[in-house]
Amino acid sequence: MSHDDYPTDEPAVVTCGLPYANGDLHIGHLRGYIGADAFTRALRTLGQQSAYVCGSDMHGTPVAVNAEKEGVDPEEFALGWHEQYEETFPRFNVEFDNYGHTHDETNTELTREIVRTLDEEGYIYEKEIQVAYDPEADQYLPDRYVEGTCPYCGEKARGDECDEGCQRHLEPGEVENPTSAITGNPAEYRERPHKFFRVSEFADYLTDFLDQLEGTSNARNQPRQWIEDGLQDWCITRDMDWGIDYPGGDGETGDLVLYVWVDAPIEYVASTKQYAERVGSDEYDWERVWKDEGEIVHVIGRDIIQHHTIFWPAMLEAAGYNAPRAVAATGFITIGGKGLSTSRNRAVWAREYLDEGFHPDLLRYYLTTTGGLQQDVDFTWEAFQEKVNGELVATVGNFWYRSLLFAHRNYEGTPDADVSPEVRDRIEDAIEEFREAVNDYSVREVGGAATRLAQYGNEYIQRNEPWKLVDEEPDEAERVIRDCVQIAKAVGVLIEPIAPGKAQALWEQIGEDGGVRDLTLEDALDAPPRSFDRPEELFEKIDDERVEELERKLAERVEAAGTDEAETGAAADAASADTEDETETEDASADEGGDMSELEPLLEGRISFEDFQDLDIRVGRIEAAEGIDGADDLARLEVDIGFETRQVVAGIKQLHDLDKLPGEKCVLLANMEPAELFGVESDGMVLAAGEQADLLTTREDADVGEKVR
Ligand code: MF3
Ligand code: ZN
Repeated sequence: MSHDDYPTDEPAVVTCGLPYANGDLHIGHLRGYIGADAFTRALRTLGQQSAYVCGSDMHGTPVAVNAEKEGVDPEEFALGWHEQYEETFPRFNVEFDNYGHTHDETNTELTREIVRTLDEEGYIYEKEIQVAYDPEADQYLPDRYVEGTCPYCGEKARGDECDEGCQRHLEPGEVENPTSAITGNPAEYRERPHKFFRVSEFADYLTDFLDQLEGTSNARNQPRQWIEDGLQDWCITRDMDWGIDYPGGDGETGDLVLYVWVDAPIEYVASTKQYAERVGSDEYDWERVWKDEGEIVHVIGRDIIQHHTIFWPAMLEAAGYNAPRAVAATGFITIGGKGLSTSRNRAVWAREYLDEGFHPDLLRYYLTTTGGLQQDVDFTWEAFQEKVNGELVATVGNFWYRSLLFAHRNYEGTPDADVSPEVRDRIEDAIEEFREAVNDYSVREVGGAATRLAQYGNEYIQRNEPWKLVDEEPDEAERVIRDCVQIAKAVGVLIEPIAPGKAQALWEQIGEDGGVRDLTLEDALDAPPRSFDRPEELFEKIDDERVEELERKLAERVEAAGTDEAETGAAADAASADTEDETETEDASADEGGDMSELEPLLEGRISFEDFQDLDIRVGRIEAAEGIDGADDLARLEVDIGFETRQVVAGIKQLHDLDKLPGEKCVLLANMEPAELFGVESDGMVLAAGEQADLLTTREDADVGEKVR
């Protein structure tokens, strides 16, 4: 099965990883919800019927541990946060079609129904396992109640996740040297019966599933490795009170609840169902999407890839549901180059941003056009200012304002003329770029298509100088301004997914009615209304003093938190001091120590020295670098390797400033089989490390052409 391009005839559902209802929202959360919101809006602009659903993740130890710390009942605790989230998202123009929570009736019932089906179909069995137990606290220690060492990578890990290391899910009993997060004592093991889901039976299914999966490459590649390493069955019950009871509730397992990762993704379905029940199934048919032919797109943080590409699709398949079409896993977010840390207060909080009085669309633009759905994002107020002033104020806002003001002054609106073929073509190109961007899951390029069109608008007006034409060649002046109003309108249509509030304001300025949310690409070429009022500037410059002040506030806060931590850190035992860090690590995209994560596991097999010698690796110097048209990530490089100059294609277009590369040394695998990418031959491979494609080079003065051995 291959996927048809968007828009398809099937309804789509876009989801974003559910936030645990356990603490304040910050920029790490927002980048995911904003990214997925922008993507859904862009799908709709293409004409794809789409619903955007989410909900709060109420269960599990992430909530229970934090509630316990505050001495509050977990339900009350989680509901409090849920209400706050529900209120906060719209303030960032994140408009879910439905926002439920995992503890509501729809999800509870659907979860029990699905688990019953899995059971009836023979995918669940019971097994006695060793469960960590704290004799002093007299309680079992599921998941975050226990900490220790990851058996796969040796990093410090929690009971069910290696959140600071290889990002793997850990099964009960797997974490080594377990200690209780309640008392800090070494945990004991006790035998308990638990329920298991036969994930291991799905290896072949999942391999095929991954071959067809769209989205970001990390979401396809990591799980392949996990499947190769061998899939284990998945323990789906826990010894705790807070959660959804294991259905049946009979006999020995009667007091078990379902593992939070069973009922959480089911909320994607439950939330869609609630939406359909509200609007009616003629309008949106949730069963068609989830059980038949819809386009299911999951946007998640990259720390929860395993749950979305192994456990969840296996569950869907076993229960007779549809398979997701795409999983887009967002990169990490850093603040001034350092890991976001809620305990150190090194974070930009949702509430803080709003209190500063910035329009939500500015942050939306920053987050989507720097990180999109995939790339890591580094936030500084200075970089934020640069984006806002350089692109939104100087390019988009400036073009909108100057062209509409000119039109209003001279013609009281849109002059009566035809759009010139050049401009029509340019708008059509922008529409095409937009369409490709959506099909590539690149919200960054959605924004890019809009901004580049505004940039063209500025050049167009500059080049045609309508102010000189008004008196001498009035027809020509009318035509130029007619073109400009059309471009302004098209920019509004294209930028709506990213900046819906500002797009709406533009829409009203040019005298259009209706909501921009319902626009489609065709609107970009439709004539604007004949008359409109005097426009206002839609973007405002952020000045340097403001930025200095914001940076200072942040630095002071981090410093203050640092001292507190040092003081309390000594007194508190390691375990409880660490649970402070809950909100950043469970958040889909905001882990601290981002640079350590997503390390690919070391390969098991060894190669001989002879095998290594087969690799002809050379020191090179980049002589030229340019982006390849039509390819999002690829650049064409010319690399001097002493004997000759090689043309090489490298996936670094987004990650490096190509203009700065010529003159830089690099390391090249010279006897790589030639390949053709986007019609460009690649004769060699430039070596780079990590998601940011950090280019390898030598430290001293090894000559160009020298062999790496
Ligand atoms: N609450 C989880 C987290 O923050 C995400 C749950 S996503 C879902 O890591 F798939 F389970 F819904
Ligand atoms: Zn690990």
